[in-house]
Amino acid sequence: MNKVGVLTGGGDCPGLNAVIRAVVRRAAQNSVKVVGIKNGWKGLVDLDTADLSVDSVSGILTKGGTILGTSRTNPYKQPEDVKKVIDNYKKLGLDALIAIGGEDTLGVANKLFKENKGIKVVGCPKTIDNDLNATDYTFGFDTAVNIAMEAIDRLHTTAESHHRIMVVEVMGRHAGWIALHSGLATGSDVILIPEVKIDLDEVCDILKKRHARGKGFSIVVVAEGAQFKAGQVVTQEERLDSFGHVRLGGIGEILAQEIEKRTKFETRVTVLGHIQRGGTPTAFDRFLATRFGVKAMDLVLAGKFGYMASLRGTEVTEEPIEKAVGTLKTVDMKLYELAKTFFG
Ligand code: F6P
Repeated sequence: MNKVGVLTGGGDCPGLNAVIRAVVRRAAQNSVKVVGIKNGWKGLVDLDTADLSVDSVSGILTKGGTILGTSRTNPYKQPEDVKKVIDNYKKLGLDALIAIGGEDTLGVANKLFKENKGIKVVGCPKTIDNDLNATDYTFGFDTAVNIAMEAIDRLHTTAESHHRIMVVEVMGRHAGWIALHSGLATGSDVILIPEVKIDLDEVCDILKKRHARGKGFSIVVVAEGAQFKAGQVVTQEERLDSFGHVRLGGIGEILAQEIEKRTKFETRVTVLGHIQRGGTPTAFDRFLATRFGVKAMDLVLAGKFGYMASLRGTEVTEEPIEKAVGTLKTVDMKLYELAKTFFG
């Protein structure tokens, strides 16, 4: 094992740099060189790379984003791009590739590995949405939840002063983990997630009853991927990215208008958006990302290709990448039922 490539793909999240640093440090300990692939799979299509050293990753642990850049490039959109990826992997003289990403990036990694064309991959799971299967947690999630928590706490005080309803739209494309955790952590009055269709009558009923018992303000947390009973996800544009995803956003605004119309309570909306993905990672995410980076490098050294780092309970272990792609880890309904105890 002489040379290993590392890339970060898909939406960025706090902790990516911590993984890159850990990979490089573990590699250096074992006299392995690391090549950074720029901008996810795009860097392997375009042969855009930078050598990484202990020096070049010094000081990045605390930084958000990714020093390698990222993209949502899917080489499987164009057969010639897959060929370029394979050719460039060989041209770079790589013995293995560590792909840090969510379902899409790891899906490509798994496909390349399964096609058996000489690409040896190890995965490292990331997403603020925490919706990847085969790991209990992904790094980035804890930071996103804490950012949402702080924002909601702040909205709480202004909601109370003005006797308003505050609708807060958080990220969560297919799963409501961020909404659930930040909503519970802040004592929010309604939490709406993609897994359960929104019943407007029920929401307004909860809010009216709360106001009737003298609480003149309420907080409603809604995940961007939540849908009304009779409706579809709310999108910002119809165009799909190269993995077939639409750009979500806007459910908060529509929900706020409906709530105000039906309850007559003054309502405002705040969309947290990419703020949840930016900035420095929490201690939990730095710790997890560092453990994942070391594990990913250890999997490479042990020749366990097609596997990814995974957190099970408190142990960092390994799981086949294919277990993480295909189906998503959605919110456990027992937890959502628990959250309902605190609605209103
Ligand atoms: O998958 C993570 C995520 O943050 C989703 O919650 C969100 O829908 C999406 O990425 C936004 O992606 P982009 O950065 O392309 O707007």
